[in-house]
Amino acid sequence: MSKVYDRVMKCLECVRARTDFVPKVALVLGSGLGDYGKEIRVEQTLSYHDIEGFPVSTVPGHHGQFIFGYVGEVPVVCMQGRVHYYEGYSMEDVVLPVRLMKMMGAEIFFLTNAAGGVNETYNAGDFMMITDQISQFVPSPLVGPNPEEFGTRFPDMSEIYDEKLRDVLREAAGELNITLHEGTYVQTSGPNFESPAEINFLRTIGADAVGMSTAVEAIAANHMGMRICGISFIANPAAGLSDNPLTHEEVQAAADAASARFKKLVTVAIKKMGNEN
Ligand code: HPA
Repeated sequence: MSKVYDRVMKCLECVRARTDFVPKVALVLGSGLGDYGKEIRVEQTLSYHDIEGFPVSTVPGHHGQFIFGYVGEVPVVCMQGRVHYYEGYSMEDVVLPVRLMKMMGAEIFFLTNAAGGVNETYNAGDFMMITDQISQFVPSPLVGPNPEEFGTRFPDMSEIYDEKLRDVLREAAGELNITLHEGTYVQTSGPNFESPAEINFLRTIGADAVGMSTAVEAIAANHMGMRICGISFIANPAAGLSDNPLTHEEVQAAADAASARFKKLVTVAIKKMGNEN
């Protein structure tokens, strides 16, 4: 048994000692979007602290618990708070939660994040469906001995974000009259925001939104064969595109202001995912 697999299975044992809930959708809530938990018919919560060996986030505004429950009739496990590479965690730690949620039974991985708008047509407060990603500025979470139990050594990444789930997100946004951009997300290491020159560079290589999470989690999920979708909340124009310096407080305030629309979008989308198999 590989070391990584063994570690995930030990976490799974801790979870299974407390709940036998089997989720269909695994949802990750990004910065400032953590209060989505209130939209869930909660069956049970489980603090990350209660899972032996589980990485616990240090970022203000990130809670640290799994919520098990239902959105409509769809069983969901929701991560209220994720851990980031910039906190000093290894990539193995960063992707442990998604591996664990897959072992709980989740088939669909729904990522959300707060991001900077690199695309000059985006405004703060917009949403972007992630259609592809650039992760080359951070180490791959698959570096190291390959945990064969999860997937193959050299996994294909030509369609990380599932075509059918993209249709689901488009439909949900359409029904709610919410504009949903479609674009490429780039993950930087953080914790510093980017310089204007870096943002110009990222735009030149094809990025539309930039953030400090998500892409590596999507790689680990794709490695395991999960179906993936993602939405970036555009919290601010990226560096150089506005006169104001960037702050984490601004990101959180923007996310709070958009949270009602965001919640509706996620709820309608998840209900539709109930029909996906
Ligand atoms: N850059 C990187 N990450 C972010 C940003 C940004 O401008 N906004 C929110 N997360």
